[in-house]
Formats: sequence, structure tokens, C-alpha cells
Amino acid sequence: MSALWYATRATGEVALLFLTIVLALGVTSAIRVGGRRVPRFVIAGLHRNLTLAGLGFLAVHIVTTLADSYAPVGVVDAVVPFGSAYRPIWLGLGALAFDLLVVLTVTSLFRTRIGFRWWKALHWAAYACWVIALVHALGTGSDIRTSAFLFFAGICCALVLAAVGWRLAEGGQDNQAFRLGAGLTALIVVIGIGVWTVRGPLEPGWAKRSGTPASLLPKPVAVTSPATGAPAEGDGG
Ligand code: HEM
Repeated sequence: MSALWYATRATGEVALLFLTIVLALGVTSAIRVGGRRVPRFVIAGLHRNLTLAGLGFLAVHIVTTLADSYAPVGVVDAVVPFGSAYRPIWLGLGALAFDLLVVLTVTSLFRTRIGFRWWKALHWAAYACWVIALVHALGTGSDIRTSAFLFFAGICCALVLAAVGWRLAEGGQDNQAFRLGAGLTALIVVIGIGVWTVRGPLEPGWAKRSGTPASLLPKPVAVTSPATGAPAEGDGG
């Protein structure tokens, strides 16, 4: 097992954790939390700096993937989704989440230039970016079968649901129907990801179904009869 592979997995998980915290901080700064105890500029500063730190981990995640000769992933696959030879859909979602994160970061750095209205409209994509990154991790990652990773992913989902719920609850009397719809959508998306994870990545045979090249799939073990040493009955014996 190459050190690069461990680095890809570890930095991917840290990047997802940062993305989760950044989303929760973004939501709390949008509902004007912060005052005497935690000044709002501190929350805004954390929101921005953790994004940049998360991008740093993501850069290592991508570079170690490209440097690791195990999975046939090219430089283009890191930014152009759904074209790679390795798990095209699920790896492609990683590229899409990365592209979205770059757009979100650059438009925030140039917010005064592009204007608050455009920035705000684009920044809604942050919710989609997080969902896409999570599904990428579940569909591509090797750690998915470990309870530690499933617990981690569960905590990330709970944190985002709590932040979204808080934001929707803080909306006062305005747009009640919209907020109810948004809350239900968030819940359905998370439950949907949970059901898909159990029926998809956690089911045997996912490596093949998810588009892992045949050369990388585990070779079927030839079963021989202990008595004769010939291939066991039923497999061409
Ligand atoms: C916002 C963007 C992204 C985030 C948050 C992210 C996060 C993650 C996480 C958490 C995993 C699961 C680790 C594991 O279970 O082992 C993962 C797996 C993976 N990611 Fe990403 N990723 C992103 C973008 C990308 C991009 C653009 C690439 C393409 C170069 C990529 C390549 C991979 C690969 C190859 C794996 C499988 C590693 C393994 O075998 O376990 N990711 N990613």
C-alpha cells in the first residue's frame, strides 16, 4: 500500500471535514450569530481561512492521487468531471466539487468587484458543493467500509443538518413555505445519501459496479477440491 494512497485518503477526509465546518460557519454568519461572545468578524475570518486551509489539503489530495500510479487518474480528470478511466462518475463528482469550491473561493475574494447580488446568488452553490464532495467520498473512497469513516460522515451530515435547521428556524415569519421546503429537501437529501450508501458502496461488488478498471479488481480465487486438487464442482471442473 503506497504512502501516497494513505495521504490521498487522509487529506480527502480532512478536506471534507474543513468543508463541513466552513459550511456550518457560513450558515451561522448568515444568521448574524456572533456578538459579545464571538465577534462576527472572527466567524467570518474562520470561514475564509478554513476554506483556504481546506483548499490546501485538497491540493495535496489531488496531487497525491495524480502521483500515485495505482489509479489511472490524469491531471485533466481533476478538473474536467466524468472522463476518468477510474470510477468516472464518483471521481468526476470530486472534480465537480473541486471546480465549485474554486469558483466559490475566487468569487468571494473578488466579491466587491462582482457585486453582492451576484456573489450571493453564486454562493448558494456551497450547499451543492458539500453534497457532491460527500457523495464523491462515499462512492470513491476505500475507507467507506470502516465504521470510523461512516461515523465521521454521519457527524458531518448531522453538523450540516443542524446548521441548516438553525438557519431556517431563525428566519422569523418570512418565507415560511420556502423554509419548510428547504428543510425537507435537506433532510431528504441526507436520508437519500444514506440509503444509496447502504444499497450501493456498502454492497459487495461496488468496486466493479462503480467503474474500477478490470485490471485493478481483485482476481476471483480459484476454488479447488481438497481431495483431488482439481477445480471444485460447478466451476468448469
Ligand atoms: C471538494 C473536493 C474533494 C473532497 C472534499 C474530497 C474528499 C475525499 C474523501 C473524503 C475521500 C474518501 C477517502 C477514503 O475513503 O479513502 C476521497 C477519495 C478519493 N478522492 Fe477525493 N475529494 C475531492 C476531490 C477530488 C478530486 C478533484 C480528485 C481527483 C484527482 C479526487 C481523488 C480521489 C480519489 C482517487 C479517492 C479514492 C482514494 C481511496 O482509494 O480511498 N478527489 N476524496
